[in-house]
Order: sequence, then C-alpha cells, then structure tokens
Amino acid sequence: MLEASSPAKAILFGEHAVVYGKPAIAISLDRRMNLTVFPAGEATVDGGRLSMRKHRYVKKAYGELWEGPAIAFRTRSSIPSASGLGSSAALSCSAVAAMLFLRGDLSEENIARKAFEVEYAVQGRASPTDTSCSTHGNAIMVSPLAGDDLLWTILAGENVWNVHHVDPPELKLVVGYTKKPSITPIQVEKVRNYYNRSGFARETIDDIGSLALDGMKALRSRDLVEIGELMDRNHSLLTILGVTSRELDKLRDAAGPLSYGTKLTGAGGGGSIIALTERPDEVCEAIRVRGGVPFSVSTTRKGTSVEVTDRNALDIFIKPGPGKKD
Ligand code: MEV
Repeated sequence: MLEASSPAKAILFGEHAVVYGKPAIAISLDRRMNLTVFPAGEATVDGGRLSMRKHRYVKKAYGELWEGPAIAFRTRSSIPSASGLGSSAALSCSAVAAMLFLRGDLSEENIARKAFEVEYAVQGRASPTDTSCSTHGNAIMVSPLAGDDLLWTILAGENVWNVHHVDPPELKLVVGYTKKPSITPIQVEKVRNYYNRSGFARETIDDIGSLALDGMKALRSRDLVEIGELMDRNHSLLTILGVTSRELDKLRDAAGPLSYGTKLTGAGGGGSIIALTERPDEVCEAIRVRGGVPFSVSTTRKGTSVEVTDRNALDIFIKPGPGKKD
C-alpha cells in the first residue's frame, strides 16, 4: 500500500576520512532498495518477525519512529548487500521515509537526519555521507565548512558535517563487486584503532580530506584524467589505512589498464571497486575474468521517494491517528 525507494551510492573520494569530519564526495547510482509497507498483525520483514539480530536498521527505525499499528515490510533490492554501495543506508532511508510519511512528518531533511541517527546507533560510528546521498539523490559533498548549495548540517561527537548538493557528474563508471562482504563497522573500528595510535594514520586521514577537495575541483572542470589519478591516489591512501584486500586489488589490477582510475568504494575489506572508464564493456569483461561481478552504473538524480499504491489500506494507519509521537 506504500512503497518507499532509495538509491545506492558510491563514494568517489573521502571514505573513512569523512568519519573524522574530513571532506568527501558521493554520487547516487541507478540501483535501488524498494521497501513495501502494509498493515499486519505483527511487525515483520520479508515474512520473518522483526528482530534486532536480523533486521538491525529497520528494527532501530521502527523503535524510534513508530507507535501505531504493526507494519509488515517487504524488501526488493537491486543493490548487493554489504557491497560498499550503501544498501544499509538505502534500507534505512526507505524505512525512515515510509514511517515519516505515515506520521505526517516527511521531508528530505527529516529523512536524512533520522536515517543517519539509525546508522549511527547501529554501526557505533558513522558519517552521514551514505544516508544523505541516498536521501538526496544527485551527488553530495560533505565538508566541515558550509558553502553554496548547503542542504543540511549534521552534528555528532566533535564532528560537523555540512552536506551540499552537487550536480551529478556524467561519468562512465563500472562497479566490480568482489562477492566478499564489506562489513562497515569492522572496517571503521580497524581504522579507528590505527588512528588512535599512529600519527601517520592521522596524517593519512588529513591527506584523504585534502584529496577530496582536489577531487571536487577536478569534477567541476570535468577533467577525467585528473579525476582518475585522484581515484588511484585515494586508493593508495586507503591501502595505508589497511582497508583494501586481495580481492579488491585483484579487480583493480584487472580494470586499471582500461580505466582513467580505479579505487575501492565504501568501507572496503571486501565490497566493490569502481573504475572510471571509456571502455565499460572491456572493463566488465576483465572484472568477470578475475572472478568479480561487474556492472555499469549511471548517476541518478532521484533520491528517496514514497509512493502510495493503495490509499484505502492506508486508512488503518492514518485514522484515527497515525501513531505520531508528540
Ligand atoms: C561507508 O560507506 C563509508 C565510511 O566512510 C563510513 C561512513 O562514512 O560512515 C567507511
């Protein structure tokens, strides 16, 4: 009766460093997480009882936002899970958007804030990059300084993240998915341990932040050679932080000679690489030969959306009261 839908994302520059408040750039991709919502006797996800063990993001969002009649959620996704492409952010955004709609509180900024709170609570440490990108669509720049096209500012701990709209660049990108899961909290924790005990790690985080600013300039001037070189450098800096892996590097080796640049995207460890290329078919084939799952992606403008598919069924939630929290 209600369908919420949110896009995947890829981080072009700045993952991990953005957790420490440094700049980062992310783009929305034309793959989506769709979440259908309907009234039910008990809260479920894909037929299984809603539980913290199996459905952490939906459960957290449900606990925070919903006091009305029980909801059954059904997921349909074209984003591989734990692939570094923001499937959990897209799920959080869709779940939050559906419940905000039913509460009568839906706005882009509310989705971004609440979905970030869900990720932050579930993952322990997180930046709003994935959730803001999935909410807003297009592309975003997150930075400690507020500039033109500011969408919203999110604060947590000592960090200030100013989230800016960026027109989505037209880039030919190929994703190479390693089939090995990328577990964000594990990778974020690993970097945090290194950051806490090593000045070199802290300098590397600073270098990634400066590189993301150069990346923004290169994107504005549509300089593909420069963007590609910065992607390669970003990957090298992420290697220093210890978040690449044999599987990721194997796919980079395959795609590199056919691309302007390649890097892991997201938390790393497993997950995916992205390759900026004018030869997407050849890159896809090279990735496939090395055992990865390739797909060409385009950027999308469409962020989180909510569509009512059966207005009559909605009445059970909306009347006599949508379960709003005061
Ligand atoms: C995960 O997609 C990106 C990280 O920077 C974590 C975060 O920003 O929350 C690794």
